[in-house]
Amino acid sequence: MRGRNLGVLISGRGSNMLALHDAIADRRLRARMAVVVSNKASAPGLALAAARGIPTAVVESRKGQSRDEHDARVGAVLEEAGIDLVCLAGYMRIVGASFVRRFQGRILNIHPSLLPSFPGLDAQKAALEHGVRVTGCTVHLVDEEVDHGPIVLQSAVEVGADDDVESLSSRILEREHDLYWRAVALVLDGRVRVEGRRARIVPTTA
Ligand code: GAR
Repeated sequence: MRGRNLGVLISGRGSNMLALHDAIADRRLRARMAVVVSNKASAPGLALAAARGIPTAVVESRKGQSRDEHDARVGAVLEEAGIDLVCLAGYMRIVGASFVRRFQGRILNIHPSLLPSFPGLDAQKAALEHGVRVTGCTVHLVDEEVDHGPIVLQSAVEVGADDDVESLSSRILEREHDLYWRAVALVLDGRVRVEGRRARIVPTTA
C-alpha cells in the first residue's frame, strides 16, 4: 500500500476506532488516522475521536437517497482526507458495490464472530443461541457481499456455560481490540495477498 492514512467509519461507541488509535499512539501500528466518519451525528465515538484531535465528519443518510449516492458522499470525504485504507469499525450500514469498487482491496471490516458463521447483526447473540462452544472475531477484506470477503485474521473465544450476551460480547470485544490493528498493519505493510477467496499472509522480508 502506498501510504498509511486510515479512514475509519463508525456508527456508535467507537471502541475499535479508539483501539486502533491507541495502537498508533503506542507505535504498535505505524499509521495516521486521517479521518473518522460516522453516519450518525449522535455516535459517541465521534466526540471521543474529536477529543483526541482526530478529524471527524458526519455523513447522515438523506431521505430518498440511494445507497450509492450516500456512499459517494462518504467516498468523497475519505478521498478528500487522502486515505489509503478504509476501516469499518462498527459501521452499521452496508457498503454498496460502487464503494467497494472505488476502494477495491482497501476496505477492512471487523465482525464479532468467526465468519462465515453468524454474519449480520447480533452475531454474539446468534452464536450463544446456536450453542457453539467457540466463537470469536474476524477481520476481513470487504467485497460486495455482507461479512464475506477474504479473511485476514481471526481470533477464537471460548463460550462459557455461564456466558450471557453481555459477558460473551465483552470478551470478544477485548479480542477485537487486539486483532484489528494487527490486520491493519499487515495490509499497510503489503503482506496480504489475495488469491481467490484466500488472503495469504506473506512473511516479512526483513
Ligand atoms: C463491534 O463488536 C464490531 O465487531 C461490531 O460492532 C461492534 C462495534 O463496537 N460490528 C459488527 O457487528 C459489524 N457487522 P465499537 O463501536 O465499540 O467498535
